[in-house]
Amino acid sequence: MRVFVAGATGVIGRRIVRQLVARGHEVVGLARGGEKEGIVRRLGGRPARGNLFDAASLVPLMKGCEVAIRAATAIPTAPRPRLADFAMNDRIRTEGTRAMIEAASSAGVRRYIHESVVWVAGTPDGAPFDEDAPLRPVGGLTGTSTGERIAREEGARRGLDVAVLRCGAFYASDAAHTRVMGQRIARRALPIIGDGGATWSMIHADDAASAFVTAAEHPRAGVWHIVDDEPVPVREYFMELARRLGARPPRRVPTWLAMLIGGRLTVEILMTSFPTSNARFRRDFEWRPRYATYREGLDEVLSAWREEGFPPGRGG
Ligand SMILES: NC(=O)c1ccc[n+]([C@@H]2O[C@H](COP(=O)([O-])OP(=O)(O)OC[C@H]3O[C@@H](n4cnc5c(N)ncnc54)[C@H](OP(=O)(O)O)[C@@H]3O)[C@@H](O)[C@H]2O)c1
Repeated sequence: MRVFVAGATGVIGRRIVRQLVARGHEVVGLARGGEKEGIVRRLGGRPARGNLFDAASLVPLMKGCEVAIRAATAIPTAPRPRLADFAMNDRIRTEGTRAMIEAASSAGVRRYIHESVVWVAGTPDGAPFDEDAPLRPVGGLTGTSTGERIAREEGARRGLDVAVLRCGAFYASDAAHTRVMGQRIARRALPIIGDGGATWSMIHADDAASAFVTAAEHPRAGVWHIVDDEPVPVREYFMELARRLGARPPRRVPTWLAMLIGGRLTVEILMTSFPTSNARFRRDFEWRPRYATYREGLDEVLSAWREEGFPPGRGG
């Protein structure tokens, strides 16, 4: 099977390409520039230049593909992001989604897989929720939920099967935000806000990618949550990461002080609970995560970091 991947050079995308190739599939990976082409090539994919916002440029790249995957995102990595910093992420998820679906339809691609995040849905009291829960995007993710709607509506209009995969908080040894978190926890510079009781559903990036590969291989339309088996309170996750890094436990700061330091959006994301489950994806695709909980996942992350001597000056 031939698969088109937008975002082939990203944390999740690189893994999607590698896993698809390992399973004998052909991958056409969108690459912006020579250096990025090299990344796709080294992963075993065929790099292709095009503009995510220009459907006409994508049509020739998608010819002969059975599935198109959008894993391209631009979540801001600034320590104190403002709403305006989400503009490119919003554009990729709205305009980029429209262009991809239009191109897929013109190129004869029948299926589209859309990456989203579980933060777009939930319950006001932080209780466990599933794929049927109402949308309530937090912290700058309005464009992300609009992107989902566009994917479903445009896909239906053009007769494509659309699978929306909402990932939990993903982590990986090479993910920018996991590395920043590791560095800051090692320096005791990432505090627990309030009681740190917000509960998150996590997913190792390898498992997020394996969900995309599974969905690519099994045609189905719908919305699924891609998370591991056990939601974890933020406090516990931070404490465990600190322990494994040999750092002292994170400090605690009141919410008002965290707002002053990190800004409203960061605090909103850190303090929102999104406990959910992979039950539907497991049931429909017979998939299960390799890293059942963040504990097994951190074993892998910490072992990769140890090997590269990261974070520098580690220890509390
Ligand atoms: N669920 C979650 O927890 C979650 C979800 C998303 C992101 N994040 C985190 O947020 C941070 C940023 O993540 P990310 O996924 O944005 O970064 P990333 O891992 O670098 O992936 C972004 C991908 O999208 C592509 N891309 C970006 N803008 C594009 C455009 N205008 N046109 C075409 N392709 C474009 C990038 O291509 P180039 O290589 O050419 O730039 C890259 O392939 C990371 O630390 C990530 O781990 C977390």
